[in-house]
Amino acid sequence: MFELKNVSRRFGNKLAVDSVTLDIPQGQMVGVIGRSGAGKSTLLRMINRLADPSSGSIHFAGTEVSKLRGRALRSWQRDCAMIFQQFNLVPRLDVLTNVMLGRLNQRSTMLSLLAIFSREERIEAIAALERLGIEQTALQMAGTLSGGQQQRVAIARALMQQPKMMLADEPIASLDPLNAKIVMDALRDINEREGITVITNLHTLDTARNYCERIVGMAAGRVVFDGKPAELTAEAVKEIYGTDKDGAGIDETMTSTAINLSDPSAQGAASPSAGPQPLALAGL
Ligand SMILES: Nc1ncnc2c1ncn2[C@@H]1O[C@H](COP(=O)(O)OP(=O)(O)O)[C@@H](O)[C@H]1O
Ligand SMILES: [Mg+2]
Repeated sequence: MFELKNVSRRFGNKLAVDSVTLDIPQGQMVGVIGRSGAGKSTLLRMINRLADPSSGSIHFAGTEVSKLRGRALRSWQRDCAMIFQQFNLVPRLDVLTNVMLGRLNQRSTMLSLLAIFSREERIEAIAALERLGIEQTALQMAGTLSGGQQQRVAIARALMQQPKMMLADEPIASLDPLNAKIVMDALRDINEREGITVITNLHTLDTARNYCERIVGMAAGRVVFDGKPAELTAEAVKEIYGTDKDGAGIDETMTSTAINLSDPSAQGAASPSAGPQPLALAGL
């Protein structure tokens, strides 16, 4: 069981996350939705301690995560792998090495710096790439891959961490619909087959509805909805996304990335900029 108790984070006089309390059972797939600036990224960053809460506490299986230091903190950060919108690979290293870097926290710094990996680690990294259908890219420089391929490499790297939890911060926001589907399917597969808890920020409602058994809606740092997709009524959507500048309600279609494979422009789209850009709520 993973728990956040009254977790807040302040930046100056801005309360980015405001007293969030959540209980997340192991193995759940949770989508966090909300407008840009709602506090979604800050919440995820606090979970894996890239940011520290200003107040409140975070607990995992009897450990107070928010108090960990040193080796114990690094061990926690290995237990909750993080996936970012911009992939965060090392572009000038080959794909295989990028994936093996998922082991960084489990081995000596020196061996990691020299990129000396065991045969077992190589085999495991290739298996992770195979699972994501990109083993043929193993020897390419990561920076030469398409966005969708890079995100799959990032997921393979996360798998190498053998995590208990995967945190994904808008993992499909830079991807075309076909690659968005591949990446979300991969996260669901990992969630279902390994029982790894997945907490993913999503800027589109339809993706959260389609993939997540639980949706947490944030607005102005607070959790304003926490329930099953079926419970997410138009009223709840309005509370999460508010109304636009002209006072009109938010139409749910406006928050759609549309993982829509009937869209011919999605087929074979390679670069992250090639496909149709998902409609972000950032500008609302
Ligand atoms: N490092 C930071 N310094 C100052 N303000 C920040 C920082 N990170 C986030 N914020 C502010 O906290 C609020 C929540 O941001 P964020 O967690 O990035 O929201 P979201 O991911 O939902 O778009 C925003 O108002 C943002 O400007
Ligand atoms: Mg964010």
